Amino acid sequence: MKEIVVSGIRSTGNLHLGNYFGAIRNFVRMQEDYNCYFFVADWHSLTTHPTPENFHGNIRTVVSEYLACGIDPELSTLYVQSDVPEITELYLLLNMNAYVGELERTTSFKDKIRAQPENVNSGLLTYPVLMAADIIIHKANKVPVGKDQEQNLEMARKFAKRFNRMYQEDYFPVPESYSFTGKLVKIPGLDGSGKMGKSEGNAINLADDEKTIRKKVMRAVTDSGPTEPNTTPTEPIQNLFTLMEVASEPDVLAHFKNEYANCSIRYGDLKKQLAEDVVKLTSPLRERILDISQNDEYLRKVVKQGAEKARESASKTLKEVRYAMGFRSF
Ligand code: TRP
Repeated sequence: MKEIVVSGIRSTGNLHLGNYFGAIRNFVRMQEDYNCYFFVADWHSLTTHPTPENFHGNIRTVVSEYLACGIDPELSTLYVQSDVPEITELYLLLNMNAYVGELERTTSFKDKIRAQPENVNSGLLTYPVLMAADIIIHKANKVPVGKDQEQNLEMARKFAKRFNRMYQEDYFPVPESYSFTGKLVKIPGLDGSGKMGKSEGNAINLADDEKTIRKKVMRAVTDSGPTEPNTTPTEPIQNLFTLMEVASEPDVLAHFKNEYANCSIRYGDLKKQLAEDVVKLTSPLRERILDISQNDEYLRKVVKQGAEKARESASKTLKEVRYAMGFRSF
């Protein structure tokens, strides 16, 4: 029996390099060896109040981008979260055993309160509960996620263990986070600090055209340059090196690091090279994204088949969960 893998991406816009290296590239590699469930977390995206016009388009974008990156709907179960109503029932049930205190203490909730004080909805508070439902509804063993999701995953583990303790010993496997390199990857943005994010305005999207990518990279924040040999790079420069680590050849990175160490580096050259390597990486993806996103018939078929497969697994779990909790028919 193959181990079960579950992961999702919120549909809040185009996917960027952070999503690609933090998540999707791992998804693609896992398809052969695991029983994989990959989905578009459209319910989760509602916490930021997308307009109805944007809502559907964003889901479509993520499905197309998943496919373009190499998620194979014949190997994996690829679906849209809201096509699987069983998840909402599990979410409701898990909410009864999730404590407001522990939810309020999560860093992502605190960050959100700060980021959108005008919209502190209870969907934000219970975000980790919905995420736990996503994961354990398929009895996942492994969850490939980026570093920023570690705490949410810790909550999912907690809720799974709590269910087992309260109702049925060893029912849910305790899901583990998973990354190919062993350590979770964090892709920095182009604005000098922090990670690449959809809302931070510091991202390179997979669907960006060549010109846009060059412009974004050339505008990336740098500093005034090293003045002494062998100093530790400042954060903005280290961020560019980190991007090179994933996008460029090792000897290219070594070359620029060496130039940094002996103070001969010219950031313009570094950026030109980085832009070149990013374009090389993303342009085939971009072509496929354009192609697939125009193919309504294909998208419809993929999503329908995914929903059927996901519901089959989800309804089996839900039936068992209901029984374990004491639901009985008359
Ligand atoms: N919270 C994740 C993110 O923002 C998306 C997500 C929702 C998810 N449900 C999940 C990821 C379940 C992994 C498993 O990226």
